[in-house]
Amino acid sequence: MVYVTRREVFSASHRLYNDTLTAEENISLYDKCANSYGHGHNFILEVVVCGEIEQKSGYVIDLKILKKIIQDIIIKKVDHHHLNYEVDFLKDIIPTAENICIAFWKELYHKIPVGKLYSVKLFETENNYVEYRGE
Ligand code: NI
Repeated sequence: MVYVTRREVFSASHRLYNDTLTAEENISLYDKCANSYGHGHNFILEVVVCGEIEQKSGYVIDLKILKKIIQDIIIKKVDHHHLNYEVDFLKDIIPTAENICIAFWKELYHKIPVGKLYSVKLFETENNYVEYRGE
């Protein structure tokens, strides 16, 4: 089994706020991340596909194809958008890195033409990232 990674970057804003809690509870939970207009990040997304190497091409998956899938399904919809309000598949979730990562996985999982989606990693800052492997 070989693991192939494509990295993409996008800029987006989000606000962490749980509507079932009071304003005070939200500030206590999310601090300045609950501020009303939200804030931005330069997110880094890493998508890992695993599989066997195809004899003819020597590829697990052609990275040009993987790049186009990630661009079409994720990046075009999130880049320079507000994740709370402007992305159909993120409606009704609190857009923490954890929840965004799982939503990206669900969008991508059945769209990988060869091999298998192995992991989705989302870096929110230089120091913080989350990873989901569908478990
Ligand atoms: Ni944030």
